[in-house]
Amino acid sequence: MDKIHSLTGMLDLYEDGDSSDLSKNIFETEKRIKNIFSNYYLKEIRTPALEDTDLFKRSAGDISDIVNKEIYSFQDRNDKSISLRPEGTASVIRSVIEKKLDQSTHKLWYMGPMWRYERPQKGRYRQFYQAGVEILGYPEGAPEFEMVSLVCSIIEEFNIADCTLKINHLGNQDNKKAYCDALIKFLEPLKKNLDEKDLERLSRNPLRVLDSKNQDTQLILKDAPSLKEFLETKSIELLEAIKDEFSDVCNIEIDYTLVRGLDYYSGFVFEALSSNLGAQDSFLGGGRYDDLCSKLGGKDLPSIGMAIGIERFASLVSDTTLSDKIVSFITLGSILEPKTYKIAHRLRSLNKNIILDMQLSDSSLKAKLRRANKNNSEYAVIVGEEEFNNGTFIIKPLKDELKEQQTVSIDELFEFYKAL
Ligand code: HAM
Repeated sequence: MDKIHSLTGMLDLYEDGDSSDLSKNIFETEKRIKNIFSNYYLKEIRTPALEDTDLFKRSAGDISDIVNKEIYSFQDRNDKSISLRPEGTASVIRSVIEKKLDQSTHKLWYMGPMWRYERPQKGRYRQFYQAGVEILGYPEGAPEFEMVSLVCSIIEEFNIADCTLKINHLGNQDNKKAYCDALIKFLEPLKKNLDEKDLERLSRNPLRVLDSKNQDTQLILKDAPSLKEFLETKSIELLEAIKDEFSDVCNIEIDYTLVRGLDYYSGFVFEALSSNLGAQDSFLGGGRYDDLCSKLGGKDLPSIGMAIGIERFASLVSDTTLSDKIVSFITLGSILEPKTYKIAHRLRSLNKNIILDMQLSDSSLKAKLRRANKNNSEYAVIVGEEEFNNGTFIIKPLKDELKEQQTVSIDELFEFYKAL
């Protein structure tokens, strides 16, 4: 019978890693990101994977690539057009409007799969995971600093090397319009040098030309007017203040050409990139989107947010950063097991930072030690019949060859484990 395969660009993820090791680190990374979100007093929100297609047309902008070419849309049995969410922000705003929560402030996070029908390549999938944050109801100022602080905490916690946080300010609606007019005026006489994609961007959303992947366009843009000339002093000061405050924790660069792929942004925007990622070098991005809520039929709700691409981010995280202390509990002789489970139970409650792998198979000491070494255990706690009768346990160091194994009493074992 023909085998059934997964769909192109959609991964199976195993916490243990799979043959290609694409999923390595993803699960632990997600766990730790959630902890950081809790540290910032963010609360979880879960919205459905499927939404009315109009939600994405009205939020991402119906000329954005995401809505034009990448969205997974279907007619349901009632002939209604529904779509798999390509991102989380629109759903969060749809939800707060629907629940009449759009007159208050919220600090929210979410984590889950998103879908974009893109050409798959390294770091680009059709189903991928995002960890997102949306801070709703606060005007420009404090939330920008809080957001950059959060991004820096994540970069620091995971020791991400060779990365840059690019920041920019798209100005208010008037600044944005004046700049777009100047850009059109500059590019109009050079139109014959632009490709089809950039011509379309120019006619529908000129700012997006700045994001062109075409080298010839980028050469032309070198002489284009700079967005900086059109910004208010306070916007430039905000960028400089953020750079000044956080440059000691993260490499921050003000880039006046940074624009984002979704249309709803205005004001402060940012993207984190790493040279270790290849062509798809952005592992996190976000910005302010003050008009989205009113555009979707809600109140004026100034907001800022960001999302991390989990697959890209996890590929930057080294195993050593994630390594927890693991102890293997080895019992020899099945008669002992009921009692030793209770001891393992007590150990787990004494120190919740340690992962205790209770070895369940009925194999030899040699095989059990092999497994302990394979799962990177720092120690093995061994109890055989003789030890059990004497009320003793063997603690065998597995990583440090200079450390000797020791035989200890149960109280000494508890003390040792607590102190790990
Ligand atoms: P985005 O820049 O479109 O922003 O996506 C955020 C991150 O998701 C990217 O930086 C990238 O790491 C990851 N990503 C995007 N597409 C793919 C893909 N096809 N495969 C793998 N990873 C991908 C947003 O989605 C906004 N909703 C962020 C935001 C939240 N802005 C305000 N609030």
